[in-house]
Amino acid sequence: ADLLPWHTFAVPSQARAGITVSDLSELRAVYRDPKWRDMPKLVLGGGSNVLFTEDFDGLVIRNEILGRHLTRGQSEVLLHLGAGENWDEVVRWTLSQGVFGLENLALIPGTVGAAPIQNIGAYGVEFADHCLYVDYLDLETLEIERLDADQCRFGYRDSVFKQELSGRCVITAVGLALPTDWQPKLGYGPLKALESEGTLTADRIYRAIVDVRQAKLPDPARLGNAGSFFKNPVIEQAEFERLQQCFADLPGYPDPSGGIKVPAGWLIDKAGLKGVAIGGASVHQDQALVLVNRGTATAEDLVALARHVVMTVAERYQITLEPEVRILDGQGALCWQA
Ligand code: FAD
Ligand code: EPU
Repeated sequence: ADLLPWHTFAVPSQARAGITVSDLSELRAVYRDPKWRDMPKLVLGGGSNVLFTEDFDGLVIRNEILGRHLTRGQSEVLLHLGAGENWDEVVRWTLSQGVFGLENLALIPGTVGAAPIQNIGAYGVEFADHCLYVDYLDLETLEIERLDADQCRFGYRDSVFKQELSGRCVITAVGLALPTDWQPKLGYGPLKALESEGTLTADRIYRAIVDVRQAKLPDPARLGNAGSFFKNPVIEQAEFERLQQCFADLPGYPDPSGGIKVPAGWLIDKAGLKGVAIGGASVHQDQALVLVNRGTATAEDLVALARHVVMTVAERYQITLEPEVRILDGQGALCWQA
C-alpha cells in the first residue's frame, strides 16, 4: 500500500499492506485474522505526527471509527467520540452545538483517537484539561478497557499511551467533559490582544487561533510537515538563569515540574537556522520548530536536517532537543538517534 495519502510529511513510502477499519468488530477481526497475525501492525489516524524512515514491513490500519454523542448535564456537557473522528471537525461541531471549551485546540490535524497519545495542546489548553476517559482495545485480550483521566497520566506531550501501553492498545473512543459556565482562556501570547474586545465568544477565539496558526504553520496539503518536529525542552531554573546571561531575551515559562519550559522554536531561530535546508528538507521560514518537505525531501534529508538542528542547538545552548514527531523504522518502532 502506498503510504503517501496516509501521512502528512509527503515522503514516499510503502507498507506491505493497508486496511481501513470503521467499527470495533472490523478492528477486532483484523487482530484475529491469521493472515495478519505475524505482521507488525501500525494504527494511523491522520498520519500528522509520523515520519516513516523506511518502508513499513507490515500492516497499516487506518482508524475510521466514527461516532459523536453529546449529553447535556447541569454543570457539564459530556461527549463520547469515536477515535476515527477528525479532531478539528469535532471542535467545530461542538461550537455549532453551543458547547464551548475546545476552541483553543482549533485546527490541530489528525484524529480524536490520537489526541490522548501525546496529549495534544495549543494556546494554553490541553486535551487532558477536558478528558474524562479513554477507551482502548487491549491487544492481548481483545477486550475494551477504560482509563479515567488520572490513569492516562497525561503530561506535556506525554501519556501512558506513549509509555507502558505503547504498542499494546488501540484507542477506540474518548470521553470529554465541558463546563456549561464557559470562561475564555486568553493567557497564551497572541490571545492576550483579544482581552480588549469586550464580549468574547468561543467562535471569535476559534477564528483568532485559526488566523494565528495559518500565519505561522505550513498547510500540510501544500508543504509536507508534521507540526512541531521537537518538543519544547524543560530545563532547571539555574540552567535557565545561566543561559539568560548570554541570551538576555530568552523566553521561558514555569513548568508544573518545577523547571522552566523554553521555546525550541526560539532556540532554533536565534541559532540562525530558519530556512536552512538539506536536500529537499528545510527549517520552516515562519516557524523554526517545524521541518518541512519542500517537495522532494526523502526521510534521510529530514533526519539529517533534524540531527543538524539538534547538534547546532546543543553546541550553542547545551540543551538536547527531543523529537515530538514519531520517527519510525520498518517495523514501526521509534528509531531516533541524535
Ligand atoms: P497519527 O500521526 O496517525 O499517529 C500518531 C501516533 O499515534 C502514531 O504512533 C500512531 O501509531 C498512534 N496512533 C494513532 N491513532 C491511534 C489509535 N487510535 N490508537 C493507538 N495508537 C494510535 N499537535 C499538538 O499537540 N498541538 C498542535 O498545535 C499541533 N499542531 C500541528 C500542526 C500541523 C500543521 C501538523 C501537521 C501537526 C500538528 N500537531 C499538533 C501534531 C498532530 O496534529 C497531533 O499529534 C495529532 O494528535 C496526530 O493525530 P493523527 O491522527 O494524525 O495521528
Ligand atoms: N519563536 C521564535 N521563532 C520561531 C518560532 C517561535 O522566536 O521561529 C518564539 C515565539 O516568538 C514565541 C515562542 O517561540 O515567543 C513560542 O512560539 P509559538 O507560540 O509559535 O509556539 P511553539 O512553542 O513553537 C507550541 C506547540 C505547538 C502549539 C503552539 C501554540 C510544542 C512542541 N509545540 O509551539 O504545537 O500549536 O505551542 O500553543 O509544544 C505541535 O505540537 O505540532 C504544535 C504545532
